Amino acid sequence: MKSALCEMFGIETPIFAFSHCRDVVVEVSRAGGMGVLGMGRMSPERLKEELTWIDAHIDGKPYGIDIVMPSTFEPLRGELPQEQVAFVRDLLDKAGIPRLPQQDEAQIKHTLLKELSFTPQDSQLMLDVAMEHPIKLIVNALGSPDRALVERAHARGIKVAAMAGAAKHAIRHKALGCDFVIAVGHEAGGHTGDTTSMVLWPRIVDAVAPLPVLGAGGVGRGRQMAAALALGCEGVWCGSVWLTTAQSEVSPDIKARLIEAGPNDSVHTRTVTGKPCRTLRNRFSDAWDAPDAPPVLSSPAQIQLWWGEGRTRVERARAREFLTYPVGQLVGDMNAETSVRQVMQDMLGELVEAKQRLDDLLDDAS
Ligand SMILES: Cc1cc2nc3c(=O)[nH]c(=O)nc-3n(C[C@H](O)[C@H](O)[C@H](O)COP(=O)(O)O)c2cc1C
Repeated sequence: MKSALCEMFGIETPIFAFSHCRDVVVEVSRAGGMGVLGMGRMSPERLKEELTWIDAHIDGKPYGIDIVMPSTFEPLRGELPQEQVAFVRDLLDKAGIPRLPQQDEAQIKHTLLKELSFTPQDSQLMLDVAMEHPIKLIVNALGSPDRALVERAHARGIKVAAMAGAAKHAIRHKALGCDFVIAVGHEAGGHTGDTTSMVLWPRIVDAVAPLPVLGAGGVGRGRQMAAALALGCEGVWCGSVWLTTAQSEVSPDIKARLIEAGPNDSVHTRTVTGKPCRTLRNRFSDAWDAPDAPPVLSSPAQIQLWWGEGRTRVERARAREFLTYPVGQLVGDMNAETSVRQVMQDMLGELVEAKQRLDDLLDDAS
């Protein structure tokens, strides 16, 4: 395809795949797209292992990394407010989910506090590891990358991009030297803003032109990709659609929940991270909507509240109706397990059909 982003990376098709799973990254790049590994809060050692594995399996195709680098760092408070702790405990007790042995509780708290204390220095360590590998792209997940990072990446021939949920974010990314912008609509899985893809994509395309833009949020098939291209995007960035592939990282229980989920089962909620995040509806997110529920905590306290004792209790008891995972509105269409190759083939096949349909419709207009 003749897209600015295909030219930028020497790829055949401008399908960019965000995934926390190295197998998805490798499969997408090998199929002619661009896999991008979400590094989350991996330790530098684990990251090195993952990237070494990717290098050994990707046949020299380009790939990138996505790093969570918040512009501000908020240290954790030691103890959580009693009201919210009691609310979660009571909810799980009433559902018959066993409490944890005391020594496990202490251990989980210790590990979690360590994981959540993710400082700007930790991000730097991860970047140092990543730059020892042949990555071609760094994406900043939260906020704009700083100028020093852009310069360091460019000096090594690595492109830099960032996510934008509003035109003002995209304009700032451009001013700081990003090579392209990812416009993320409200329907996307994970952290999103309030504007839907249909309105956001052309707004951002116009705001940063001629900088290329990828359309994200609600893209899982060819007609959606055709819409992104028609609205001025140079390609698409997809996250949710890979979760129900054979290669995905999710546990069998979560995969089954995603496959069973209906069209109203992705919710935009602060209950998982304390920030607006689109995720699979579950009994925990529903409980906070009740009139007697306490206020949701801010981030990172809400993460600590749920991801500590709560999530571990739910996972140990395999209480599926409490399980959640970030996923977009597309979840209502993800009704069977598939594979990365199949998703890409279907997407490209349907894209060609959509073009044909438009050509036929517009035939008389030209
Ligand atoms: C399971 C999951 C985890 C995500 N984690 C991150 C992340 O760590 N960093 C990031 O930049 N985006 C993250 N996202 C958002 C994706 O990058 C992307 O914007 C979104 O998935 C696109 O919309 P879609 O889900 O409709 O395809 C995540 C999305 C999902 C589904």
